[in-house]
Amino acid sequence: MSDAARREPLLVLGELMGNSERDLGRRFELLRPGADGPDALLAERGAEIRGIVTRGRLPINAALMDRLPKLEIVSGFGVGYDSVDVAEAARRGIVVTNTPDVLTDEVADFTVGLTLATIREIPQSDVYLRSGGWNGGPFRLTATLRDRTIGIAGMGRIGQAVAKRLEPFGRPIAYHSRRPVEGLGYRHFPDLLGLAQACDVLIVILPGGAATNKAVNAEVLKALGPNGVLINVARGSVVDEAALVDALTSGGILAAGLDVFEREPAYMPELGRLANVVLTPHVGSGTHWTRERMADLTVANLETWFDGKGPVTPVPETPWTAQSA
Ligand code: 8YV
Repeated sequence: MSDAARREPLLVLGELMGNSERDLGRRFELLRPGADGPDALLAERGAEIRGIVTRGRLPINAALMDRLPKLEIVSGFGVGYDSVDVAEAARRGIVVTNTPDVLTDEVADFTVGLTLATIREIPQSDVYLRSGGWNGGPFRLTATLRDRTIGIAGMGRIGQAVAKRLEPFGRPIAYHSRRPVEGLGYRHFPDLLGLAQACDVLIVILPGGAATNKAVNAEVLKALGPNGVLINVARGSVVDEAALVDALTSGGILAAGLDVFEREPAYMPELGRLANVVLTPHVGSGTHWTRERMADLTVANLETWFDGKGPVTPVPETPWTAQSA
């Protein structure tokens, strides 16, 4: 029997990072869909596949699960798992894992950077200097963080890490989450609109998925107001991008810093033409150090699962519990 024939087949959706290709390759037979999609691979090997490793681009829904009758585990590379229908997975007894904690600090650091870059127009001033603008006079004066109330939508691990980093900036901090987080001294808003009315920098770090789809809509942007700055490091789906373009072009809000988009890697061309936005290509967790740790955790979840020890970091909605291991 060849080595490949002995190894556990693993469906790989998206590019593997860091050492995970090598680490997974030792134990698993890595099966990748062809350029024309997963159909041929699923028809040929779907019945044997018990594990998936995913970067989260392809939806893992009932239709895909139907084609993988032996599927036991979906190991997601990333903290967000909105690409997986977790309720359907739970119904079928399929375990879903993600990579929490290891990226919290990185994404929080980045969020603070993007917030300041957007308000102080740091990328725009770089372009100004490089294109010789300075010879014609100093760069324009910008908005400031000094007179602002900071609103954070989503107070999970990353939201809390962002708030902690922003505390020393000496500005009032408020937040929105379904329920107040115990022990947090910041003002809580049970609805996003209330938070948008009360703040003038709105940092979005809500999970993606149906419950938050286009939560930042025209009404919320109007409430944020003409001096408002929107920062999105969560999921593109959380913001109504067309409404955002309208608000940015009409002076409805002042500026936006966006790391995520509705249809990545595409983004609305209008955004690229606006001077009051800072755009980054979904790089919040994108450092060697953090991606390596995310990759290790993605691998560890699969290894411990197939060793019969259960997953390391199952998502809360998953059917697995320590007792059922
Ligand atoms: C991931 C992310 O790196 O963790 C998440 O949810 O959005 C990023 O940190 C990305 O999803 C991997 O492609």
